[in-house]
Amino acid sequence: IPVDPFDLVIFGGTGDLARRKILPGLFRRFCAGQMPDAARIIGAARSDMDTDAYRQMVSDAIDEFGGDLAKECDARDAFLKLIGYIAIDARGETGWADLQEAMKGKGRVEAYYFSVSPALFGDLAERLQQWGMADEDARIVVEKPFGRDLETARDLNATLAAYFDEHQIYRIDHYLGKETVQNLMAVRFGNMLFEPLWNSQYVDHIQITVAETVGVGGRGEYYDKSGAMRDMVQNHLMQLLCLIAMEPPARFDPDAVRDEKLKVIRALDPVESYEIVRGQYQAVPMEESEHPGYRTAVGDAKSRTESFLALKTHISNWRWAGTPFYLRTGKRMSARSSEITVVFKDTPHSIFAEDAGRHRNVLSIRLQPNEGITLGVTIKEPGPGGMRLIDVPLDMTFADALGEDGADHVDAYERLIMDVIRGNQTLFMRGDEVEAAWAWTDPIIEGWELRHDVPKPYDSGSDGPTDAFELMRRDGRDWREVS
Ligand code: BG6
Repeated sequence: IPVDPFDLVIFGGTGDLARRKILPGLFRRFCAGQMPDAARIIGAARSDMDTDAYRQMVSDAIDEFGGDLAKECDARDAFLKLIGYIAIDARGETGWADLQEAMKGKGRVEAYYFSVSPALFGDLAERLQQWGMADEDARIVVEKPFGRDLETARDLNATLAAYFDEHQIYRIDHYLGKETVQNLMAVRFGNMLFEPLWNSQYVDHIQITVAETVGVGGRGEYYDKSGAMRDMVQNHLMQLLCLIAMEPPARFDPDAVRDEKLKVIRALDPVESYEIVRGQYQAVPMEESEHPGYRTAVGDAKSRTESFLALKTHISNWRWAGTPFYLRTGKRMSARSSEITVVFKDTPHSIFAEDAGRHRNVLSIRLQPNEGITLGVTIKEPGPGGMRLIDVPLDMTFADALGEDGADHVDAYERLIMDVIRGNQTLFMRGDEVEAAWAWTDPIIEGWELRHDVPKPYDSGSDGPTDAFELMRRDGRDWREVS
C-alpha cells in the first residue's frame, strides 16, 4: 500500500547508515511502488556538494548496497530526481535558511532523520524549532545509541521533549523492523495454540542468542566505549525479550504494545555477578593478520570491554516467576545467527519405555538468516522398529513463501521508515522504555566496573568463553547450537 507523499530530510545524509541502509532502502520501496513520485528526500550533511554529486553518491550506494531487487529495478532516474541536497551545519547557521525554504508550507508529512552522532541530537532539534520546522506534523527519527546510561538517556529525552511531543519522536531499534519479530507477535496472539502454554508452568526456559561473525571492524572507537551490553543487550536483546514475555496487549496499537513491553522491563530481576559472563575475542594463530583480536582491533592492549555477553535473568511476575531467561550475544562467533528459543517442560509422565527416548517441545523463532519459526514435536519413528520416539520440526520457514533470496523481503530499515511516514509508532521505542532498560543495565555494568572485571578471552570463530556454557550447564541446560 503506497504511503502518502512526504518530505524526508536525512541529517547525516552522506554517512554510513544513509548509504548502507536508508537510501538503498528507500529506493527499494520506490521500486515496489510504495513510495510515491511526489515524495522528496533531502540529504543534509556538512560536506559542500551539489545535488548532482549527491545523486551520484546515492546511485553508487544503491549499486553497492541495494541488493538484487535494486539492480533489477529500472526506475533509478525517476528516484534520483526526488533527491536533493543541502550542506548544513548542525551547530551553526549554514544551510538552515535553505532547508526552511525547501520545506515551506506544503502541508504534508515531514520527517527528519537524525542519522548523526547523538551529541548533535539536541542541536538539531533546537535548530528545527528555531527555523520553524518543528511544527505539529513534523516527526523526528533518532538512531541508537540513545544515551549510555539512565542519566544520559533521561537528559536526551528531556532535550528532545523540549521541542517535540513523544508522538513525534521515533526511536529506532532496527531489530523491531525484522520480519520475524513481527511474526512473533502474530504467532503468539493470532493462535489459540501457544498462549495457554506461555508461562512458567509449561515453559522450562527461554534463550535468546544474537551471534555475529563480524568483529568490531572500523567501529573500534565507538564500540570500545560501549561493549556488548550497551551495543546489543540494552536495546536489541531487551526488545526481543519484551516481545516474547509480554502480556497480550488489548489492541495492536503503539501505546498498548509499548505499555506491555515496559511492564516486562520493570519486572526484570537484577542480575547477580555469577549470572553474567563477559568475553572478549582473541585472534587464533595464523589468522591474526586477517582477523585481529579485539584488543588489536580497538587499539588498546588493556581494553576491558566485552565483545561477548551471556547472562541469566528472571521476570518477577505471575506468568514467568521461576522460568529463567538466558541471553547471549557476541562478535566473531562461529556463525551469524539470531534466534529465540522457547524450551517447554517435559511431559509430566511418560507412558513409553525408558529407551523410547524422551523429548521436549522446542519452539525456535529465527530472526536471521533463514527467517522462520520451527516447532519441534515428538512423533513415533516411522517404520517397524517399535515405539521409538523422534523429534521432527514443524517448519514455518519463510524463505519458501518469500522466494529464494527473499525477493519480497523488506529490510528492517525500509519497513521502519515507511512506518514513520504512516505515523505508526508500534515498532519504535518509547522514552520510558529506553529509560527502564537503562535502569536495569546500569547496576549490572556498575557491578562489573566495581569488581574491575576482566572479560574472559575466547577464540575468534568460537561461541564464547567456556564459562558461558557453564552458566547453562550448572542449571542442567544447554545453549542451542549456533548455526
Ligand atoms: C547494531 C550494532 O545496532 O546492530 C552492531 O551497533 C551490530 O554492533 C548490529 O553489528 C547487528 O545488526 P544485524 O541487523 O546485522 O543483526
